[in-house]
Amino acid sequence: MTEKNATPFAADNIVTEDEKIKRRRLLLGVTGVVGGVSVAVAATPFMSSLRPSKKARAAGAPIKINIAGLKPGELRRDVWRLKPVWVFGRDQEMLQHAKSQEEQLTDPASTASVQPAYCQNENRSIKENIFVAIGLCTHLGCSPGQATNKKEGFLCACHGSRFDVAGRVFGGSPAPDNLIIPPHRYSNDDEIVIGEDDSA
Ligand code: FES
Repeated sequence: MTEKNATPFAADNIVTEDEKIKRRRLLLGVTGVVGGVSVAVAATPFMSSLRPSKKARAAGAPIKINIAGLKPGELRRDVWRLKPVWVFGRDQEMLQHAKSQEEQLTDPASTASVQPAYCQNENRSIKENIFVAIGLCTHLGCSPGQATNKKEGFLCACHGSRFDVAGRVFGGSPAPDNLIIPPHRYSNDDEIVIGEDDSA
């Protein structure tokens, strides 16, 4: 065998025990770093998933509705917890009209309906000229519209449920209960906060 064909078994290829240990340590170090990065990358979406999203926070947070200049018969709408919220202006004529029809109502005193304790009264409100409600029919959840004559309240076109200007359902309607009233409070004369009240 010539020197040219000999296996290149030179001193370069001889790895001492010390060298082997150094290489092993280096390899373990690199693997640890890569593993750590992987865990961190994998954990990021998991940790993010534990935090409520911006949208979810917005969906659950109280909202403010401007009521400056609200007129009788005017309906202002917003969204709270993904549900329509109404703020409706009323005058004495409307309230008297509703009172005159009480015997036609299913639950005139709202004993079986859902509202905060401070709204379980004749007009179902904190201020008699302003009515606040969740704008969803208590039958199957359609959103009612206003009656042509504003003092007649609201009509659900889906199956014909009728509600007065205090959201009280008329007998004979498929809806079993009055419209739901959410917790709310007045932060000042021109603003209502929906989703929180002074009862806490
Ligand atoms: S959903 Fe309103 S009457 Fe049926």
